[in-house]
Amino acid sequence: MHSLKRLWAWFDDITGTSKALGPPLTHPVPEAKKSRWFYVLGSATLAAFLVQVVTGIALSSSYVPSSGQAYESLHFITGENLGRILRGMHYYGSNAMIILIGLHAIRVYLMAAYKYPRQVNWLSGVVLLLGTLLMAFTGQILRWDQGGFWTAVVGAEQAGRAPLIGNWLGHFILAGATPGGATLSRFFAAHVFFIPAVLFTFIAVHLYLVLHNGISEPPKAGRPVVVRTYKHWYHSLMEREGVPFWPDAAWRDLFFGCVVVLVIFILAVTLGPPEIGKPPDPTIIQASPRPDWEFLWYFALLSLIPHWSENFVMVAVPAIFIVFLIALPLVGGKGERSPLRRPWSIVLVIFLVGGIGYYWHQGVLAPWSPRMDAPPLPESVVGVSSGPIAVGAKVFYDKGCEFCHLVSGYGGIRGPDLSDAGDRLTRAEMVTRIFSGATNMPSYSNNLTSDDLNALLDFLQSRHRAYKYKISPPPGAVSQVVR
Ligand code: HEC
Repeated sequence: MHSLKRLWAWFDDITGTSKALGPPLTHPVPEAKKSRWFYVLGSATLAAFLVQVVTGIALSSSYVPSSGQAYESLHFITGENLGRILRGMHYYGSNAMIILIGLHAIRVYLMAAYKYPRQVNWLSGVVLLLGTLLMAFTGQILRWDQGGFWTAVVGAEQAGRAPLIGNWLGHFILAGATPGGATLSRFFAAHVFFIPAVLFTFIAVHLYLVLHNGISEPPKAGRPVVVRTYKHWYHSLMEREGVPFWPDAAWRDLFFGCVVVLVIFILAVTLGPPEIGKPPDPTIIQASPRPDWEFLWYFALLSLIPHWSENFVMVAVPAIFIVFLIALPLVGGKGERSPLRRPWSIVLVIFLVGGIGYYWHQGVLAPWSPRMDAPPLPESVVGVSSGPIAVGAKVFYDKGCEFCHLVSGYGGIRGPDLSDAGDRLTRAEMVTRIFSGATNMPSYSNNLTSDDLNALLDFLQSRHRAYKYKISPPPGAVSQVVR
């Protein structure tokens, strides 16, 4: 023990460690009685970022960023136990980082901690937020499967709509006119060199400014920020009520950070990394590329808005969002901080979170795209296990009708629900529709044998609305169901 102390004294003497680390660790922070746990979101984002750095470096030592080998190398990594966990941690780590940075930004916005003197803290945070989103976007493309490939294409197409620089930007993203090996190299370089360099730099700036300006005190209605007096007031507040960051507040950051890392690890071990889709094949134009969930809501939004507004939504909405983030601390740098005195901030957050949630849900349902993974109808829905109706149900699945049509909750929702088709359509009407197709339904005139067609019609004619009132007969009685 004694010699350890002497070793430390020697080390500290020649490196100045305690002099360098002491003041930042023990700087006073506000003793926020009610909102203490809200203050851990930033450090938790940092914890998730560190997970990304460590697992990312490990992954990059086996990943081959070439269009010929990327796919194979990811399969190889996923086949190894350690590789599987690393890929999983990198994936859930990115999810965690996005969720945490989002919550952190919302917290800071609601408490208006971006006001004087912390405007530049906020602006550096905006860079970190956008950088994090770019990391998520470039990262999923490195999977270089169908999904990743088409996400790159869609991203470039979107950028291509920007006025004036659109064409150049699209070329810049794809590193050429069409996606290929150079595209992958470009995304790899962005994902492991350029964007991380920006993130590291701005994290340093962000943390330095947090120390320089101090952690914001919890807002109070009727106590506006006055530029002339704020700093003086804050310092005397810290002298009176501040507590040293270490250990009084830091343990909460440490504890929550560890929980975040643990959750990431557990998810990686139990759920594993996201599946790698089919290898990219530029000749298959996937009808609906599905990005990872972070961007799913945005894709859903673009699929659902009317065609004429696409250009506007693709270019103007992100632009407005970014301008808002930058203008916020510059325009609203002083005055009331409490959300109670800034009710619009609450409305805006609810609107934003609600909107993203709604379009995300739409994206999960993806009503515009056939659901290729719908399972065959179970017997409980079909009603019988053999005979023409059962054969028809199988044809309904085998010919892909079920990808677009819902029957008793099974199947896609591209076309109308056919759960009660027997009540609504005659056999002849069905034949017409099946033979002639429609705007969004292929024609099956050359594609069904007459046996298949008859079985299919038997099945569809057997689909009826669930009885509104069902009187179940007593056991043994002759069944008399009212229809
Ligand atoms: C790619 C998606 C898709 C596939 C696959 C598909 N349909 Fe359709 N179906 C639609 C759409 C969309 C409509 C609505 C067309 C319209 O009214 O403009 C429709 C309409 C219908 C209708 C009329 C429904 C009504 O309420 O008016 C029937 C019946 C039907 N389809 C049966 C089938 C059968 C049987 C199959 C398989 C052999 C099939 N569909 C395959 C998309 C599809």
